[in-house]
Amino acid sequence: MSGNAAGQQAYWNSPATRAWATEHARIDARFAPLTEALMAAAGPGPGERVIDIGCGSGSTVLELARRVGAAGAVLGLDIAAASVAEAERRIAAAGLPQARVLLGDAATHPFPPGGADLLFSRFGVMFFEEPVPAFANLRRALAPGGRAALLAWRPPAENPWASAPLAAVRPLLPALPPPPGPEEPGQFAFGDAARVRRILEGAGFQAVTLTPCDRPMRLGADAAEIADFALAMGPIQRALLGATPAERAPVREALLAFFRERMSPEGVAMPAAAWLITARA
Ligand SMILES: C[S@@+](CC[C@H](N)C(=O)[O-])C[C@H]1O[C@@H](n2cnc3c(N)ncnc32)[C@H](O)[C@@H]1O
Repeated sequence: MSGNAAGQQAYWNSPATRAWATEHARIDARFAPLTEALMAAAGPGPGERVIDIGCGSGSTVLELARRVGAAGAVLGLDIAAASVAEAERRIAAAGLPQARVLLGDAATHPFPPGGADLLFSRFGVMFFEEPVPAFANLRRALAPGGRAALLAWRPPAENPWASAPLAAVRPLLPALPPPPGPEEPGQFAFGDAARVRRILEGAGFQAVTLTPCDRPMRLGADAAEIADFALAMGPIQRALLGATPAERAPVREALLAFFRERMSPEGVAMPAAAWLITARA
């Protein structure tokens, strides 16, 4: 693992990202409309063999396993130990022996060549330090004619659910690290369609398509809960790691005001913009 890939591994195993293991119910509720679009594009069918890249705590592994049925197989891979442990627990509880998760790096994992029909990922493919060899490794895991269906964020300006609360509290936060450069891994690293195409085609994929997938991100109906979630996950959480209660309090107040202003009878919903990416081996 290169120095920076080790950095990703440290990051995804740090308290900054622990909510991916503990908060899957809330995350799934927010992502539901996007997940539905991804599942529709992926079209997992009975008996198919699927790899879920960066599967987190396993929500999509479970759904894929239900769809491929007992004759199929789903392998989820993630570098975050807490998420993989939670996914294992959920798979056992659901009684889906066709599902399995591994703690491993999808960029380098020795998949059996040609053993999968579908590569699938909900926001798990933007963190490879060297994306072309990583995707080449994943493509070799596909059988001839196999397909990929991936979801990745478009740029922050098109995702106010992520950028607007951060902008609202930015003056109250300690200095944030500079955003990653255009070729560096990160949440928005696949925002540029030309870059995604270059990576996938460079890795040998064919028929690469990127379709805008715009869905509301429904944040909930309780401003305090939404504010607390923003404090528990993402850039605001990271900026406040190690902050005192006195430093956190004004940030929470500002978030509360932000979400109360956006409250409607249906709760708070903000635009979310992703690329739905499909390709063939
Ligand atoms: C934004 S989270 C999405 C998790 C999950 N797909 C979901 O939608 O709930 C990204 C995930 O990718 C994982 N990840 C990052 N780099 C990875 C790699 N090289 N191999 C496998 N997983 C990776 C992280 O540990 C994290 O769980």
